[in-house]
Amino acid sequence: CGIVGYIGHREAYPVVVQGLERLEYRGYDSAGIALYDGTDVKFSKTKGKVADLRAKLESDITTTGGIGIGHTRWATHGVPNDVNSHPHFSNSGDLVIIHNGIIENYDPLRQELISRGYTFESDTDTEVLVNLIEDVKKNEGVKLGKAVQIALNQTIGAYAIAVFDKTKPDEIVVARLGSPLAIGVGEDEFFIASDATPFIEYTKKTIYLKDGEMAVIRNHKKLKVRKIKDDSLVDPYIEELQLNLEQIEKGGYDHFMLKEIYEQPQAIKDTFRGRMLVKEGIIKMAGIDDNIEKFKNARRIIIIACGTSWHAGLVAEYIFEEFARVPVEVEYASEFRYRNPVVFKDDVVIAISQSGETADTMAAIKLAKKQGAFVFGICNVVGSSISRITDAGAYTHAGPEIGVASTKAFTTQITILTLIALRLAQATGKMADSEFRNYLQELERIPGKVEKALKCNDQAELVAAQYKDAPNALYLGRGYNFPVALEGALKLKEISYIHAEGYPAAEMKHGPIALIDEMMPVFVIAMRKGHYEKVVSNIEEIKARSGKIIGIVTEGDTEVKRLADHIIEIPETLEPLTPILATIPLQLLSYHIALMLDKNVDQPRNLAKSVTVE
Ligand code: G6P
Repeated sequence: CGIVGYIGHREAYPVVVQGLERLEYRGYDSAGIALYDGTDVKFSKTKGKVADLRAKLESDITTTGGIGIGHTRWATHGVPNDVNSHPHFSNSGDLVIIHNGIIENYDPLRQELISRGYTFESDTDTEVLVNLIEDVKKNEGVKLGKAVQIALNQTIGAYAIAVFDKTKPDEIVVARLGSPLAIGVGEDEFFIASDATPFIEYTKKTIYLKDGEMAVIRNHKKLKVRKIKDDSLVDPYIEELQLNLEQIEKGGYDHFMLKEIYEQPQAIKDTFRGRMLVKEGIIKMAGIDDNIEKFKNARRIIIIACGTSWHAGLVAEYIFEEFARVPVEVEYASEFRYRNPVVFKDDVVIAISQSGETADTMAAIKLAKKQGAFVFGICNVVGSSISRITDAGAYTHAGPEIGVASTKAFTTQITILTLIALRLAQATGKMADSEFRNYLQELERIPGKVEKALKCNDQAELVAAQYKDAPNALYLGRGYNFPVALEGALKLKEISYIHAEGYPAAEMKHGPIALIDEMMPVFVIAMRKGHYEKVVSNIEEIKARSGKIIGIVTEGDTEVKRLADHIIEIPETLEPLTPILATIPLQLLSYHIALMLDKNVDQPRNLAKSVTVE
C-alpha cells in the first residue's frame, strides 16, 4: 500500500492525489482521500485506481483545505471494495486514518471495542486501530499524539499510519513500524509519504522515520519525533535527496516498463560506475572492501530474496561457485524465515531486494543477524529499510523502477553480484589475474551489447503477435540461463496472465514434455557458449512432439535456426554474462504480448511493486 499526506499553506488535494498516482506502484486495488475544508472532512474512496478516484472526486468534492491524507491500497484484510478502502473514520467521525501494513491482533481488539459499544463498517484492521485510538483518547483524556502512542503499544503487527482529528485540524500524527514512512520538510509545510516520490518537486529535505518512531506534525511548527515504546524524544536526521522528477516520469515511453527495459544499458553502467577500474584491473566497493575478511572466511554464502530478485540470486549462485569456489545456497526469504534454518556465524548472507522493503526479506535478514551471520544487502532504493538494517551493502543504482514487473533491477542485480563474485575470487586467489581482467573488459562492453540486444524489439513484437493467444508457454534454459528461463516465465505470467513455466531444459523430459503439442510455444535459451549441443538435443525433442520453438540464440547461429520456428539473436559474450543479454528479448516478448492482449503493463492485477506484508 501507499500513503500520502499534506499539511501546510497549499491546497492539499492536488498534492495528495498526485502523490497517490506516484505511489500506485505500491498497490492499486482501491484508493481514497480525506481533506479538511475548514468545517468538515470531505472524503472519497473507491475500488480501483487513483484515476477512478479523481473521476469520482470531480463530482464529490468541491472544497479543499490545507490538510489531507490519501491511500492507495493493496488488499490484505477484506476484499478490495469501496467500504474496505481507506481512509477510515472513528465512530465519532472525528478521527480519520490511513494505514499501510497489518495489525495482527486486530480481532481481539475488535471484540473488545465491540463489547464497549463500537461498531464497524468494514472488515479492516485499520478501522479497529482508529477506534482504538479514539477509545484511548476519550477514556484517558489525552491529546491525539499520546492516544496514538498508547494505542500502538497495544498492537502487534506492522504499520505506517497518518491520522488527524477534524476538531483539531492543524496537526497530523504519523508512526512507523515495519512499513516505510518519509516526511518531506518544506517551508511551513510538511509532506508525508511511503517514499519520497510524491513530494520530490516541493522539497528535497526528508526525514525517514525509523521503525518504532512516531511524529506529531503541526502546521507552521517544528515536528517532534518520539519513540513509540518509551516516549523518548528523537532528534530527527534530515536528508537531502538526490532524486529528481524526470527520473520518475515516463520520458516519452508509453509505459514505465518499456522505459525501464530501454534504460538497461545506462542502468548497468551506473551500477559499475566508479567500482570497476578496468585498466588497473581493480574492483572497488566499499561495502565489500571494508568487510573482505568476512567474505574471504565465509563458510558459505546464503542468498535470500523474493520474486525476480530471487532469480538474480540463482544466477549469482552459478557465478559465485564458478568464480570464487564458495558454496552458495539461494533461499526464498519466506521459506527461510519460517523453517528454523541452520545459520553459522561464519556464513555470509546476501539479501537482494529492489525496493528494500519486502517484508519477508526483512524478516529473514533479522533472523540471520540474530543467529550471528554477517548480512550484506543489495538494494536499489536508496535509504530503504533493508539498506538500513543490513551490516553492509551496495546499491544497484538502477534509478527508480516503477513498472511492477521488474526489468532493470534484475539485470543490475546480476551485474553487481558479478562484481562481488569477481572481487571475492580475486581476494581469495581463486581466479587468475588475466581471467579477472578479461571479465572486467567484457563487463565494460555489456551495456553496448544490451543496446544491441534491444534491437530485437521488432522481432520480439513479431513473435509476440504469433503466440499472444497461447494459453500456456514453456521457458527452457540450462546452466546460467536456467534462472533466466524462470524469469522469462515470471514476466509473461505477471503482465499477460498467460500461464507459463520455466524449467531446466534437461528436466523437461521428467514432466513438462507431456504438455507439449502443436499449441505450445517453447522459448528456449540456446547460447553458443553453455551446453549448446545439449540444448539442441532438447530442441529436437520438442520438435519431435510438434511444439513451437522460439530460440534465443547467439548472433550468427545456424543450427537452432534450422530447427526453430523463430529465433531471436543476441550478441555473444562470456558464458557467465549471458543471462544479462538473454533476459532482454524475454522482457520485450512479455511486454508486447501483454500490450496486444490489452493488459495493464505497468500495473498488472493483484500484484504490487513493494510487498510490505508477509
Ligand atoms: C514483488 C514485485 C516483484 C519483485 C518482488 C521482490 O512481488 O512485484 O517484481 O521481484 O516483489 O521485490 P524486491 O523489492 O524485494 O526485489
